[in-house]
Amino acid sequence: MDTPSDLPLDDAGYPAPGGVARRPAGAAESVAANRRWWDAAAPAYLAEHGTDLGDADFLWCPEGLREADAHLLGDVAGRRVLEVGCGSAPCARWLRRAGADVVALDVSGGMLARAAELNSATGIAVPLVQADVGALPLSAASVDLACSAFGGLPFVADVEGALAEVARVLRPGGRFVASVNHPFRWPLPDSPDPGDLRVVSSYFDRTPYVETDEDDRTVYVEHHRTVGDWVRAVVGAGLVLEELVEPEWTPGRTQEWGQWSPARGALVPGTLILVCAKPG
Ligand SMILES: C[S@@+](CC[C@H](N)C(=O)[O-])C[C@H]1O[C@@H](n2cnc3c(N)ncnc32)[C@H](O)[C@@H]1O
Repeated sequence: MDTPSDLPLDDAGYPAPGGVARRPAGAAESVAANRRWWDAAAPAYLAEHGTDLGDADFLWCPEGLREADAHLLGDVAGRRVLEVGCGSAPCARWLRRAGADVVALDVSGGMLARAAELNSATGIAVPLVQADVGALPLSAASVDLACSAFGGLPFVADVEGALAEVARVLRPGGRFVASVNHPFRWPLPDSPDPGDLRVVSSYFDRTPYVETDEDDRTVYVEHHRTVGDWVRAVVGAGLVLEELVEPEWTPGRTQEWGQWSPARGALVPGTLILVCAKPG
Protein backbone atom coordinates (compact mmCIF):
# COMPACT_ATOMS: atom_id res chain seq x y z
CA MET A 1 0.00 0.00 0.00
CA ASP A 2 2.96 2.33 0.51
CA THR A 3 3.26 4.88 -2.26
CA PRO A 4 6.45 6.92 -2.51
CA SER A 5 5.73 10.56 -3.28
CA ASP A 6 7.09 12.51 -6.19
CA LEU A 7 5.80 15.86 -4.88
CA PRO A 8 8.32 18.43 -3.65
CA LEU A 9 8.03 18.95 0.11
CA ASP A 10 8.38 22.08 2.24
CA ASP A 11 10.53 22.32 5.39
CA ALA A 12 7.76 20.78 7.49
CA GLY A 13 7.49 17.84 5.08
CA TYR A 14 4.16 18.81 3.49
CA PRO A 15 3.77 19.09 -0.31
CA ALA A 16 4.98 22.56 -1.33
CA PRO A 17 2.45 24.06 -3.73
CA GLY A 18 3.72 25.65 -6.93
CA GLY A 19 0.60 27.82 -6.86
CA VAL A 20 -2.85 28.26 -5.35
CA ALA A 21 -6.01 28.80 -7.36
CA ARG A 22 -9.77 28.91 -7.08
CA ARG A 23 -10.97 26.91 -10.07
CA PRO A 24 -13.25 23.99 -10.92
CA ALA A 25 -11.97 20.49 -10.16
CA GLY A 26 -13.89 17.39 -11.24
CA ALA A 27 -14.49 14.16 -9.35
CA ALA A 28 -11.69 12.03 -10.83
CA GLU A 29 -9.24 14.95 -10.76
CA SER A 30 -10.00 15.60 -7.07
CA VAL A 31 -9.59 11.97 -6.02
CA ALA A 32 -6.33 11.50 -7.95
CA ALA A 33 -4.83 14.75 -6.65
CA ASN A 34 -5.79 14.14 -3.04
CA ARG A 35 -4.57 10.56 -3.07
CA ARG A 36 -1.15 11.77 -4.25
CA TRP A 37 -1.18 14.69 -1.78
CA TRP A 38 -2.05 12.52 1.24
CA ASP A 39 0.54 9.93 0.20
CA ALA A 40 3.15 12.69 0.30
CA ALA A 41 1.80 14.42 3.41
CA ALA A 42 1.29 11.31 5.56
CA PRO A 43 4.64 11.40 7.41
CA ALA A 44 4.43 15.14 8.16
CA TYR A 45 0.72 15.03 9.09
CA LEU A 46 1.26 12.16 11.49
CA ALA A 47 4.46 13.67 12.93
CA GLU A 48 2.50 16.87 13.63
CA HIS A 49 -0.79 15.40 14.82
CA GLY A 50 -0.14 11.74 15.61
CA THR A 51 0.28 12.29 19.35
CA ASP A 52 -3.00 14.21 19.57
CA LEU A 53 -4.79 11.61 17.43
CA GLY A 54 -3.39 8.74 19.46
CA ASP A 55 -2.96 5.15 18.29
CA ALA A 56 -6.37 3.90 19.44
CA ASP A 57 -8.47 6.96 20.19
CA PHE A 58 -11.48 8.59 18.52
CA LEU A 59 -11.01 12.35 18.14
CA TRP A 60 -13.79 13.92 16.09
CA CYS A 61 -12.20 17.32 15.55
CA PRO A 62 -9.51 19.82 16.54
CA GLU A 63 -11.89 21.25 19.14
CA GLY A 64 -11.10 18.11 21.14
CA LEU A 65 -14.43 16.28 21.11
CA ARG A 66 -13.86 12.55 21.60
CA GLU A 67 -16.34 9.76 20.89
CA ALA A 68 -15.70 8.37 24.38
CA ASP A 69 -17.46 11.49 25.71
CA ALA A 70 -19.82 12.36 22.86
CA HIS A 71 -21.34 8.90 22.11
CA LEU A 72 -22.54 10.13 18.72
CA LEU A 73 -22.38 6.61 17.27
CA GLY A 74 -24.36 5.06 20.11
CA ASP A 75 -23.53 1.56 21.27
CA VAL A 76 -20.76 0.15 19.05
CA ALA A 77 -20.10 -3.22 20.71
CA GLY A 78 -20.93 -6.04 18.34
CA ARG A 79 -21.74 -3.62 15.50
CA ARG A 80 -20.20 -3.81 12.06
CA VAL A 81 -18.65 -0.39 11.42
CA LEU A 82 -17.07 1.28 8.37
CA GLU A 83 -14.66 4.16 8.94
CA VAL A 84 -14.24 6.36 5.85
CA GLY A 85 -11.02 8.35 5.37
CA CYS A 86 -9.38 6.59 8.32
CA GLY A 87 -5.85 7.96 7.87
CA SER A 88 -3.65 6.07 10.33
CA ALA A 89 -6.88 4.50 11.69
CA PRO A 90 -6.80 5.47 15.40
CA CYS A 91 -10.61 5.80 15.41
CA ALA A 92 -11.04 2.34 13.92
CA ARG A 93 -8.70 0.88 16.55
CA TRP A 94 -10.68 2.64 19.31
CA LEU A 95 -13.87 1.14 17.87
CA ARG A 96 -12.29 -2.33 17.72
CA ARG A 97 -11.22 -2.03 21.34
CA ALA A 98 -14.81 -1.01 22.19
CA GLY A 99 -16.01 -4.27 20.69
CA ALA A 100 -16.96 -3.24 17.14
CA ASP A 101 -16.25 -5.28 14.03
CA VAL A 102 -14.62 -2.48 12.05
CA VAL A 103 -13.25 -1.91 8.55
CA ALA A 104 -11.03 1.14 7.98
CA LEU A 105 -10.96 2.66 4.50
CA ASP A 106 -8.83 5.39 2.95
CA VAL A 107 -7.83 6.44 -0.56
CA SER A 108 -4.17 7.01 0.38
CA GLY A 109 -1.69 4.15 0.41
CA GLY A 110 0.72 6.37 2.35
CA MET A 111 -1.78 6.84 5.17
CA LEU A 112 -2.72 3.16 5.15
CA ALA A 113 0.95 2.15 5.36
CA ARG A 114 1.17 4.05 8.66
CA ALA A 115 -2.13 2.48 9.72
CA ALA A 116 -0.62 -0.96 9.09
CA GLU A 117 2.44 -0.07 11.21
CA LEU A 118 0.19 1.07 14.06
CA ASN A 119 -1.90 -2.10 13.73
CA SER A 120 1.30 -4.06 14.43
CA ALA A 121 2.56 -1.73 17.16
CA THR A 122 -0.72 -1.75 19.09
CA GLY A 123 -1.70 -5.35 18.44
CA ILE A 124 -5.13 -4.06 17.35
CA ALA A 125 -5.24 -5.22 13.74
CA VAL A 126 -8.18 -3.57 12.01
CA PRO A 127 -8.74 -4.55 8.36
CA LEU A 128 -7.54 -1.81 6.00
CA VAL A 129 -9.04 -1.12 2.57
CA GLN A 130 -7.73 1.30 -0.06
CA ALA A 131 -10.64 2.90 -1.91
CA ASP A 132 -12.37 6.16 -2.72
CA VAL A 133 -15.44 7.01 -0.64
CA GLY A 134 -17.25 7.51 -3.95
CA ALA A 135 -16.89 3.81 -4.85
CA LEU A 136 -17.06 1.72 -1.69
CA PRO A 137 -16.05 -1.93 -2.22
CA LEU A 138 -18.70 -3.20 0.21
CA SER A 139 -22.04 -4.90 -0.35
CA ALA A 140 -25.35 -3.13 0.08
CA ALA A 141 -26.71 -3.03 3.65
CA SER A 142 -23.51 -4.64 5.00
CA VAL A 143 -22.69 -2.27 7.91
CA ASP A 144 -24.59 -1.08 10.98
CA LEU A 145 -22.65 2.14 11.40
CA ALA A 146 -20.41 4.34 9.28
CA CYS A 147 -18.25 7.18 10.51
CA SER A 148 -15.71 9.67 9.29
CA ALA A 149 -13.52 12.18 11.13
CA PHE A 150 -12.61 14.68 8.41
CA GLY A 151 -11.98 11.71 6.13
CA GLY A 152 -12.70 12.06 2.45
CA LEU A 153 -15.88 14.14 2.41
CA PRO A 154 -14.23 17.61 2.47
CA PHE A 155 -12.09 16.56 -0.48
CA VAL A 156 -14.55 15.04 -2.96
CA ALA A 157 -16.26 16.92 -5.79
CA ASP A 158 -19.24 14.58 -5.87
CA VAL A 159 -20.36 14.57 -2.25
CA GLU A 160 -23.85 13.49 -3.31
CA GLY A 161 -22.31 10.36 -4.88
CA ALA A 162 -20.18 9.71 -1.79
CA LEU A 163 -23.16 10.01 0.56
CA ALA A 164 -25.22 7.77 -1.73
CA GLU A 165 -22.46 5.16 -1.42
CA VAL A 166 -22.49 5.41 2.37
CA ALA A 167 -26.29 5.12 2.38
CA ARG A 168 -26.06 2.06 0.10
CA VAL A 169 -23.72 0.12 2.39
CA LEU A 170 -25.66 1.00 5.58
CA ARG A 171 -28.37 -1.40 6.66
CA PRO A 172 -31.84 0.09 7.21
CA GLY A 173 -31.85 1.64 10.65
CA GLY A 174 -28.07 2.18 10.49
CA ARG A 175 -26.33 5.44 11.33
CA PHE A 176 -23.69 7.64 9.72
CA VAL A 177 -21.78 10.29 11.64
CA ALA A 178 -19.19 12.50 9.94
CA SER A 179 -17.16 15.53 10.96
CA VAL A 180 -16.29 18.01 8.22
CA ASN A 181 -14.88 21.53 7.94
CA HIS A 182 -17.49 23.93 9.28
CA PRO A 183 -18.70 25.89 6.23
CA PHE A 184 -18.24 29.10 8.25
CA ARG A 185 -14.44 28.64 7.88
CA TRP A 186 -14.46 29.00 4.10
CA PRO A 187 -14.60 32.80 3.75
CA LEU A 188 -12.06 33.38 6.56
CA PRO A 189 -8.23 33.45 6.34
CA ASP A 190 -6.32 30.27 7.17
CA SER A 191 -4.86 31.68 10.39
CA PRO A 192 -5.19 30.63 14.05
CA ASP A 193 -5.02 34.30 15.16
CA PRO A 194 -8.43 35.75 16.06
CA GLY A 195 -7.03 39.15 14.99
CA ASP A 196 -7.12 37.82 11.40
CA LEU A 197 -10.85 37.06 11.51
CA ARG A 198 -12.26 38.93 8.56
CA VAL A 199 -14.22 37.84 5.51
CA VAL A 200 -11.86 37.51 2.52
CA SER A 201 -14.09 35.59 0.11
CA SER A 202 -17.75 34.75 -0.34
CA TYR A 203 -19.35 32.04 1.78
CA PHE A 204 -21.54 31.36 -1.26
CA ASP A 205 -18.67 30.81 -3.71
CA ARG A 206 -18.36 27.03 -4.13
CA THR A 207 -15.38 27.27 -6.51
CA PRO A 208 -12.89 24.74 -5.11
CA TYR A 209 -9.62 25.66 -3.40
CA VAL A 210 -6.87 24.12 -5.53
CA GLU A 211 -3.11 23.80 -5.03
CA THR A 212 -1.07 23.25 -8.16
CA ASP A 213 2.41 22.08 -9.09
CA GLU A 214 4.96 23.95 -11.22
CA ASP A 215 3.13 22.81 -14.36
CA ASP A 216 -0.27 24.04 -13.08
CA ARG A 217 -1.49 20.47 -12.50
CA THR A 218 -3.86 19.99 -9.60
CA VAL A 219 -2.16 18.46 -6.53
CA TYR A 220 -4.68 19.25 -3.75
CA VAL A 221 -8.37 20.15 -3.71
CA GLU A 222 -10.86 21.18 -1.05
CA HIS A 223 -14.54 21.52 -1.91
CA HIS A 224 -16.80 23.88 -0.01
CA ARG A 225 -20.46 23.31 0.79
CA THR A 226 -22.70 25.70 2.64
CA VAL A 227 -24.72 24.38 5.56
CA GLY A 228 -27.73 24.18 3.22
CA ASP A 229 -25.68 22.18 0.69
CA TRP A 230 -24.79 19.62 3.36
CA VAL A 231 -28.38 19.25 4.46
CA ARG A 232 -29.53 18.84 0.84
CA ALA A 233 -26.81 16.25 0.14
CA VAL A 234 -27.66 14.18 3.23
CA VAL A 235 -31.40 14.26 2.53
CA GLY A 236 -30.80 13.61 -1.19
CA ALA A 237 -28.90 10.42 -0.28
CA GLY A 238 -32.02 9.14 1.50
CA LEU A 239 -30.65 9.71 5.01
CA VAL A 240 -32.38 11.47 7.87
CA LEU A 241 -30.40 14.29 9.44
CA GLU A 242 -30.86 13.84 13.18
CA GLU A 243 -28.50 16.50 14.45
CA LEU A 244 -25.90 19.06 13.40
CA VAL A 245 -23.24 19.27 16.10
CA GLU A 246 -21.00 22.37 16.29
CA PRO A 247 -18.41 21.43 18.92
CA GLU A 248 -17.10 24.15 21.15
CA TRP A 249 -13.44 24.29 22.13
CA THR A 250 -12.62 21.91 24.99
CA PRO A 251 -11.68 23.93 28.11
CA GLY A 252 -7.96 23.72 28.82
CA ARG A 253 -7.05 22.25 25.44
CA THR A 254 -4.02 24.05 23.97
CA GLN A 255 -3.36 21.98 20.81
CA GLU A 256 -3.52 24.02 17.55
CA TRP A 257 -4.39 22.50 14.14
CA GLY A 258 -3.68 24.98 11.35
CA GLN A 259 -6.28 27.71 11.71
CA TRP A 260 -7.95 25.90 14.64
CA SER A 261 -6.73 27.41 17.90
CA PRO A 262 -8.11 27.92 21.41
CA ALA A 263 -8.36 31.69 20.86
CA ARG A 264 -10.16 31.38 17.54
CA GLY A 265 -12.20 28.42 18.73
CA ALA A 266 -13.64 30.56 21.51
CA LEU A 267 -15.17 32.84 18.86
CA VAL A 268 -16.15 30.86 15.77
CA PRO A 269 -16.97 27.25 14.87
CA GLY A 270 -14.42 25.12 13.01
CA THR A 271 -16.18 21.77 12.74
CA LEU A 272 -19.63 20.56 11.71
CA ILE A 273 -20.69 17.03 12.64
CA LEU A 274 -23.50 15.46 10.61
CA VAL A 275 -25.44 12.87 12.60
CA CYS A 276 -27.53 10.86 10.15
CA ALA A 277 -29.70 7.75 10.12
CA LYS A 278 -30.92 5.48 7.35
CA PRO A 279 -34.67 4.92 7.70
CA GLY A 280 -35.46 1.44 8.99
C1 LIG B 1 -7.58 15.08 7.56
S1 LIG B 1 -7.22 13.39 7.19
C2 LIG B 1 -8.21 12.60 8.42
C3 LIG B 1 -7.68 11.25 8.74
C4 LIG B 1 -8.18 10.69 10.08
N1 LIG B 1 -9.61 10.51 10.09
C5 LIG B 1 -7.73 11.61 11.18
O1 LIG B 1 -8.57 12.10 11.92
O2 LIG B 1 -6.52 11.86 11.25
C6 LIG B 1 -8.14 13.13 5.69
C7 LIG B 1 -8.09 11.71 5.17
O3 LIG B 1 -9.07 11.59 4.10
C8 LIG B 1 -8.50 10.74 3.12
N2 LIG B 1 -9.19 10.96 1.85
C9 LIG B 1 -9.10 12.03 1.01
N3 LIG B 1 -9.88 11.86 -0.07
C10 LIG B 1 -10.49 10.65 0.08
C11 LIG B 1 -11.41 9.91 -0.72
N4 LIG B 1 -11.85 10.37 -1.89
N5 LIG B 1 -11.83 8.70 -0.26
C12 LIG B 1 -11.37 8.20 0.93
N6 LIG B 1 -10.48 8.86 1.72
C13 LIG B 1 -10.04 10.07 1.30
C14 LIG B 1 -7.03 11.15 3.10
O4 LIG B 1 -6.22 10.18 2.48
C15 LIG B 1 -6.74 11.33 4.58
O5 LIG B 1 -6.28 10.15 5.19
